[in-house]
Amino acid sequence: MSGVKTSLPYDRAFNFSAGPGALPVEVLEQVRDEVMNYGGTGVSIMEMSHRSKAFEAVVDNAIADIKALMGIPDNYRVLFLQGGASLQFTMVPMNLRRTGESIDLAVTGSWGKKAVEAAKLDGGQAQVIFDAKGTNYDHAPRLAELTRHDGAAYTHFTSNETIQGVDYLHDPDGTGMWICDMSSNILSRKVDVSKYALIYAGAQKNIGPAGATLVIMREDLLERIPEGLPPMLDYRIHAENNSLYNTPPCWSIYVCGLVFKHVLKMGGVPKMEELNERKAALLYDLIDSSDFYSGHAQKQSRSRMNVTFTLPTDELTTAFISGAKEQRMLELKGHRSVGGCRASIYNAVPIEAVTALTEYMREFEAKHG
Ligand SMILES: Cc1ncc(COP(=O)(O)O)c(C=O)c1O
Repeated sequence: MSGVKTSLPYDRAFNFSAGPGALPVEVLEQVRDEVMNYGGTGVSIMEMSHRSKAFEAVVDNAIADIKALMGIPDNYRVLFLQGGASLQFTMVPMNLRRTGESIDLAVTGSWGKKAVEAAKLDGGQAQVIFDAKGTNYDHAPRLAELTRHDGAAYTHFTSNETIQGVDYLHDPDGTGMWICDMSSNILSRKVDVSKYALIYAGAQKNIGPAGATLVIMREDLLERIPEGLPPMLDYRIHAENNSLYNTPPCWSIYVCGLVFKHVLKMGGVPKMEELNERKAALLYDLIDSSDFYSGHAQKQSRSRMNVTFTLPTDELTTAFISGAKEQRMLELKGHRSVGGCRASIYNAVPIEAVTALTEYMREFEAKHG
């Protein structure tokens, strides 16, 4: 551990982890304050029945707050499930692709690829209608330009590819059924939920600790779910039981609820979007003005959550990452499929962390460029 102090409260590190990612300090403080005795109940959320009035209120408030934050229309249901976004790769086709039907998937990176693999596992039909493999997953198409198959049950896409740092940065037009893995950019920009049939997101980037997976689905989809699915894999069962069919990930749901309240207090998603644009611009402007750093994603598809870039050599990359660690800047190593570096700058990463990183990048370039 280096002796360098950061400018953040509690001398917290500059955390650029891709996930589980940074949480807001105010939320962590509230968690600390409530961990011994939640709301006068005498126990923590971790120790309380999920059937208690207090916990039911936690779930109901979290649902109400995410509805307010995202402007979720009344004909949508919000569920908190388990199994991560990875289980949704299986659950979505299991619930929404009827026998004999095919589905369309657009692949802009590693997670989209995994969604395709999972959709084929049960022998069901899945057609890849876009794959950016040829350019090592450096861009996303315009959704309106995708050629979708007539009769396909739905089109699946990954709004932000966490590993490649590639984002669509726009919503679909709402024709047909659009299903979106929004794990790494949910609440980062305004989204028109009515254009989507179903959105899912693992909690551990922008909404809370790992454990819960958020699913936002149009209510009428519940009617197309085949009978006889294993109950834990059946959206209908979870919807009928308000996400309390079995013991849910209570702790994760509780902290997600605190994050939702915090984001509302901060000014909601529009405020997050404004801050995220500013944070991302600090890094991309530097990358653009440098011959030393190169961005991975094409400009029109650059993620505001995961900024991926390379340095001229592997040796320099290693030196950059270890030097950053000395300055308490953590988790800057890129995924091996892209190489180089990745700075994940989720909602809860403060602008001070990004400023510190840009200063370090400038110094490093001046020394080694
Ligand atoms: C876009 C995206 N989809 C899916 C996943 C898988 O999520 P989980 O680990 O919650 O299953 C991740 C994890 O990082 C992700 O970033």
